[in-house]
Amino acid sequence: MSVTVRVPAKVNVQLAVGPARPDGFHDLANVFLAVGLYDEVTATPADELRITCSGPDAAQVPLDRTNLAARAALALAERYGRPADVHLHIAKDIPVAGGMAGGSADGAGALLACDALWETGASRDELLDICAELGSDVPFSLVGGAALGTGRGEKLQELEVGGAFHWVFAVADGGLSTPAVYREFDRLTPDAPAPGASPALLDALRAGDAAALAGAVSNDLQPAALSLFPALADTLKAGTAAGALAALVSGSGPTTAFLTEDAEAAERVAAALRASGTCRAARVASAPAQGATVVRAALPP
Ligand code: C5P
Repeated sequence: MSVTVRVPAKVNVQLAVGPARPDGFHDLANVFLAVGLYDEVTATPADELRITCSGPDAAQVPLDRTNLAARAALALAERYGRPADVHLHIAKDIPVAGGMAGGSADGAGALLACDALWETGASRDELLDICAELGSDVPFSLVGGAALGTGRGEKLQELEVGGAFHWVFAVADGGLSTPAVYREFDRLTPDAPAPGASPALLDALRAGDAAALAGAVSNDLQPAALSLFPALADTLKAGTAAGALAALVSGSGPTTAFLTEDAEAAERVAAALRASGTCRAARVASAPAQGATVVRAALPP
């Protein structure tokens, strides 16, 4: 018996950040776009909760109860009054600690996989509530596509996307801690205004217009990420010099994202980034991608 769920990474095409709230989080206008780089989470019955991980960066993934996949299984088990007796295997392809919501993807994937394995009958809204408790980006990993996240990013409004967008992601040597990037944002931006979504950006997404989207992307966390990881400026420059329409830090970084005209341009920019020596790897991916989806299930009839 087992269930496998595939979950996409994300890029924030707009990340507008307000001042710190009393609870320590920041109000956001966060336009998420799911991109076609995926982790797969497989849930199999076991004597007790156990996490394993495979993939080139597996050594960087915590296998204890700090892993969002473990927390998702425990939260669902608690809600349905049952033991979290499951083995969760994560086949990891999303860059770790990169600002692409890889940890959140594993949380959403584990939740959906355990839900199917345990046949809880939970509603979509119940699953989204658990996702929001797990982390600000986890609900979007479940939903996928494109969405505007407000509040701390967890309140989602799905957005229309009129066509495919072609991206390149440059994986940095090293990671950045999301809380540290937000702290640096607070230091650099003492008077942050209330965040709002850009109408031009939402129009560009709706039209599927890459040039218009390139003119509208923004990330308020970018100056903070560059301040903590100055070498990222060289990666951004290398992608722009190679013909990317837009270059920005993905979320809290340090992965950098490059929007290109089409799939061929994406391959060219990726090759130039690899040759530039300014990143550890460059990956192409198109968007929007589907949210968490069961791709294999072997359940009793
Ligand atoms: O919600 P999540 O656990 O992903 O957030 C990780 C950290 O990022 C938080 O502890 C907080 O420091 C920061 N954060 C924030 N405002 C948000 C989302 C995250 O300050 N809206």
